[in-house]
Amino acid sequence: MLSCDTLIRNASVIDGTGAASEQLDVALRDGHICAIDTTLDFHASVVKDAKGLVLAPGFIDVHTHDDISVIRTPAMLPKISQGVTTVIVGNCGISASPVHLRGELPDPMNLLGGPEDFRYPTFAAYVAAVNDARPAVNVAALIGHTALRNNHMDRLDRTATQAETEAMRVQLQEALDGGALGLSSGLAYLSANAASTEEVLALAQLLAAAGAVYTTHMRTEADAILDAMSEAFTIGRLSHVPVIISHLKCAGIANWGRSGEVLQALEKASTTQDVGCDCYPYAAGSSTLDLRQVDERVKITITWSTPHPEMAGQSLSRIAESWSISQLEAAQRLRPAGAIYHSISEEDMRRILRHPATMIGSDGLPNDPRPHPRLWGTFPRVLGHYSREEKLFSLPEAVHKMTGMPAQRFGLAERGWIRVGYCADLVLFDPKTILDTATFSDPMRASEGIAGVWVNGVLTYTSQGATSDRAGRFVTRSKTAWI
Ligand code: ZN
Ligand code: CU
Repeated sequence: MLSCDTLIRNASVIDGTGAASEQLDVALRDGHICAIDTTLDFHASVVKDAKGLVLAPGFIDVHTHDDISVIRTPAMLPKISQGVTTVIVGNCGISASPVHLRGELPDPMNLLGGPEDFRYPTFAAYVAAVNDARPAVNVAALIGHTALRNNHMDRLDRTATQAETEAMRVQLQEALDGGALGLSSGLAYLSANAASTEEVLALAQLLAAAGAVYTTHMRTEADAILDAMSEAFTIGRLSHVPVIISHLKCAGIANWGRSGEVLQALEKASTTQDVGCDCYPYAAGSSTLDLRQVDERVKITITWSTPHPEMAGQSLSRIAESWSISQLEAAQRLRPAGAIYHSISEEDMRRILRHPATMIGSDGLPNDPRPHPRLWGTFPRVLGHYSREEKLFSLPEAVHKMTGMPAQRFGLAERGWIRVGYCADLVLFDPKTILDTATFSDPMRASEGIAGVWVNGVLTYTSQGATSDRAGRFVTRSKTAWI
C-alpha cells in the first residue's frame, strides 16, 4: 500500500479555480499534495476525517503590512487563525527592505514598526531573516517605492533627481533578481505624493523583464480617483506590466455611490492591459492619522497616538469636545497617530468586493495596539458573512478570490490550487459556521469555523488553536499569469 504523511478523507474540496466543490480524499507527503481521488487507499501517519467540512487551498493575503511581524511574532496568529497560509508584504509603498534609515522614520513606514525594526539594508538580508524566524505562514514581498525614496533622498516632499532615481533602480533590480514580486507605491501619502509619474515609471520599467507586477495605493481615492486610476494604468501600459490597485474604494462622503464608474474605468482598461485590484470587506479604512481625511461628518476612531497614548480607542469627535477645540486641531495635537475612518459606503464596498477582478487583501495593521478588525477577520468575513449570509458570491468564487487568482497574478508557483504536486498549503473549515468575530470594539479575536490549517504540509492550526509547529518560508516570484 502507498504511504503518505497525512490523509484528509471525505472533504468537500474547493480547489481554488472557481470550480464547484467535489467530495474527495487528499493525501500529503513531504510538504506537497501527493494524491487526490474519490477514495485513496493510503497508509498514513495521520488520518483526518473531514466529512461536512470544506478543504480549500490556504488563503493568500495579497495586501498586508506584516513585513516585520512575520519576524517579530512568527506565530502569526491573526493570519493563521483565518486560514491564511501566505502573506504578501511590502504594500502601499512601504517595505522592511531594502532600508537604511536616515534620521526619522517617515510616515507611513511607522505603521510597520519602530526605527529599531528596520534592519534589512538588502532584500537578501530580509529573506534570510524571514527564513530564520520560520513564521507560521509563507511570506512573499513587494518592494516599496517610499522605502526606496527614503534610502536615497534627503527630503520626500519633492520628486527624485535622475541620480536618485538611478540609485533606486539599482536597489529595485537587486531585489527583483532576489525574487521580489514587484513594486508597490503609496502615492497618496505625503512621503511619496510629490513623486512625479515619470519617477514611478522609471522604476516600473524594470518590472516587465522580471515578470513582476506594479501595485499601488493610488495618488487619491477621493474626488480625483479616476485621474489616479488613469495614472496607474498609464504606468502599467508604458512599462508593459500588470497593475493591481490596492484596497480599491471610493473614499469620503462626497464620493459615495461612485463605485460603478470606478469599476467601469477598471473594466475599460482591462480590455487593453492587465489590471486588477484588492479589497477588504469593511466599510471603514485605517492608516496613520491624515489631516486631509478629517471630516466632521465621518466617524474617526484614534487607534494610537504618540503624544497622547491614553486616547487610543476614543473617537476624534469626543477628544475634540473634551479639549474644546475642532477635530482638525485635535488631530494635529494627536499626531503622529493612527486612525480608523468610517468613510466608505457599504454599497460601494460590496460592489467592488464582488467584482470578478477583485482579490481579497486584509490591509491589516499588526503593529496597531487597537487594530481595525480586518487584521483578524477579513477572510472568514468574506466566506461567512458576504458569501454564506449575504450571498454576494458563491463559496467557490469567494475561495478563488483568495487563492487561485492571487497565486496566478503574483506568480506564486505551485500554490493557490489543490492539485497533485502543489505545495500542501490547505485550510479545512466548516462552511456552515465560519465567521469573523473581531469587531471594532473588540478587534483581536480569532474567527470561528476554522478546523485545520496546513502550511507546507505541516498542521499549524486547529480548532484548539495554534499547534507547536511552524513551517512557513520565503516564497520568491515565479511567472505571473493574468486571470
Ligand atoms: Zn494603502
Ligand atoms: Cu496598505
